[in-house]
Amino acid sequence: MKKIGVLISGGGTNLQALIDAEKSGVIKSGKIVCVCSNSAGAYGLTRAENAGIPTKVIRKNADCGGDIDEFSRRICAYMKEMDVDIIVLAGFLAIFGGELLKEYAGKIVNIHPSLIPSFCGEGMYGLKVHEAALDYGVKVTGATAHLVNEVVDGGKILLQKAVEIKDGDTPVILQKRVMEQAEWIILPRAVEMLCKEE
Ligand code: GAR
Repeated sequence: MKKIGVLISGGGTNLQALIDAEKSGVIKSGKIVCVCSNSAGAYGLTRAENAGIPTKVIRKNADCGGDIDEFSRRICAYMKEMDVDIIVLAGFLAIFGGELLKEYAGKIVNIHPSLIPSFCGEGMYGLKVHEAALDYGVKVTGATAHLVNEVVDGGKILLQKAVEIKDGDTPVILQKRVMEQAEWIILPRAVEMLCKEE
C-alpha cells in the first residue's frame, strides 16, 4: 500500500474525488496520509479534516519569505515526515522546484484542466485555462493527468479525457463541466496507476 500526500490550494474538489475514490475502491493500492496547502483559507483543508486526514499549511510568502527553494524544501520535509511515497497535485496552484522534484522524481502526478499541450504552461491555471480555451474558440477541451518534471505541465501524460464545449459556455460553466466529466474521473485512476506501479 503506497502512502499518498496531496497538495492543494483551494476548494479541493479533486481532493474530495480522491477521498471518495479511496472509499469506493477506485484507489485500492494507496492511502491518503496527509494534505498540505499553500493557503490557510483553502476549503480543501476542511474536506481533509472531515475525512480524518492530517493537514499542514506551508505558505511561500508568509512562511518561507517568498523563497521558492525554501518552500520546496519545507514541503519535501513534511512529505518525508509523513513517509509519503506518491504526491498528488490536486489543484495546487503554486510552482515548486529543486529538492521536491529530485526526491520524488516520477512520483508526482498533477491534474491540469485542458488537453495538454493546449492551454498549459506557466501562468495557465484555474479559470485562466478555460478563458483561454473559450477565447481561442476550440470546440473540445478536457483534462490531463500527468507526471510532474521541471517543465511546467511538461511531464509524461498518464491519462486524458475530452469534454465538449457548448454555445454560451462561460469559464465558470466550462470549469465545472471539465471537473465533473474529466478531472474527478481521471485523477483517481492515474493515482491508482502510479500506486500500482513498482
Ligand atoms: C482544478 O480545475 C485543477 O485542474 C486546476 O485548479 C482547479 C482546482 O480545483 N489546476 C490547475 O489549473 C493546475 N495548473 P479544486 O481545488 O476544486 O480541485
